[in-house]
Amino acid sequence: MCTLAAKFFSKREQVVALLSCVDTSILSVLPAPIVSMSDRAPEQASTSKDQVSHGRTSQERKSPGPSPEGLLPAQHWTQLEEVRDEDADDTDSALGDNASSTASLTSSILEYRTILGRSFHSERGNAQYWGSIDAEQNEAMDINHHVQTLLLDGKLHLAPLDNVERVVDIGTGTGLWAIDFADEHPNATIIGTDVSPIQPSWVPPNVQFQIDDCTQEWTFAENSMDYVHMRWLVGSIQDWTALLKQAYRCLKPGGYIESHETSANILSDDGSVHDQTAMGQWGKIFIEGGRKLGRPFTVVEDAIQEKAMEAAGFVDIRATSLKCPIGAWPKDERLREVGKYMYLALTEDIEGSVVFMANLLGWKKEEVFVYAAHLRRELASNKFHPYYRQSILVARKPESSSR
Ligand SMILES: C[S@@+](CC[C@H](N)C(=O)[O-])C[C@H]1O[C@@H](n2cnc3c(N)ncnc32)[C@H](O)[C@@H]1O
Repeated sequence: MCTLAAKFFSKREQVVALLSCVDTSILSVLPAPIVSMSDRAPEQASTSKDQVSHGRTSQERKSPGPSPEGLLPAQHWTQLEEVRDEDADDTDSALGDNASSTASLTSSILEYRTILGRSFHSERGNAQYWGSIDAEQNEAMDINHHVQTLLLDGKLHLAPLDNVERVVDIGTGTGLWAIDFADEHPNATIIGTDVSPIQPSWVPPNVQFQIDDCTQEWTFAENSMDYVHMRWLVGSIQDWTALLKQAYRCLKPGGYIESHETSANILSDDGSVHDQTAMGQWGKIFIEGGRKLGRPFTVVEDAIQEKAMEAAGFVDIRATSLKCPIGAWPKDERLREVGKYMYLALTEDIEGSVVFMANLLGWKKEEVFVYAAHLRRELASNKFHPYYRQSILVARKPESSSR
């Protein structure tokens, strides 16, 4: 019934409908909140082709020895005896398995690539994005927007914005941030750019979406933007300094840049997540895949946003470090709510998030499915208390800029 009703709504309303259809009481059967977690640890206050051959022999595939930086081979998961977790509940089944470059829309951007059965963006400039563009992954992105907003207590930004007129959201995805921001700032024009045309068509009149590879020279005029927002570009960017220099060029003097990035590492403070767990391997898969792709997944760990902002010439750089729980385990009510939705966002489409990276590492489709099943089981267990880290960097282009 929810799905049927959602067909008659705009994209934004669909997400609201989707979230309201999620009976969060289902999630109350998630692991009980047995561990508290520090809120917002401000630790850094200052500042079409299916599987490709990877040239391995069958012997190499049969001997899952140690791999770089503790990354377990794909066969580890298929050979692992299925462990019945007595503490696991049936949350999974309750939620279901699936709980210068700007261009006009040409047919070429609809020529998606297929990797291990999932669709990915078409060849466009230098872009390489690891997430599937299938409906399941887009739903996950929409739920994640809700998570990100909850994490900021309902705020869409941390930059001290005043009377913005022209705003750009780089890598806008399904565009929910841009749509919400446009609703909050009806007098501003918001442009959302992305390499994939996955944005809705029913949007507020002050939102536009453009197909654009942000790793090329941006087409916006110099000194034309009041605010540049970018969120979760991790693993898509080779040269963060070049990206931030484009933002600097396009911003008006005094304009703000805001960058939200996530770590790929799933952590715990009590040792429940470790290298032999599927959760512990998640970050290793992405980091190793990102290394092969030449697009780092260690943006948070290596303070890349901050360094790139400095190198680009930004001033008044402020960093905010957040911990985002996954699952309903935190004692704190607000974090518990965040964790419930993050659990939904991740379990909505584990395969669509990881298959691109796993393919780069030479995994087979069935190995991805088995790994995803192990991860899903761990996420539904009350033995783990996972979270990941995020870094939000806000900075300003100086009023008098010589560049
Ligand atoms: C993880 S999603 C985040 C979407 C959105 N920013 C959010 O936070 O909900 C990353 C987005 O960046 C886009 N992307 C990746 N590489 C890009 C590039 N070179 N140029 C423009 N967009 C890109 C992807 O297509 C995807 O929609």
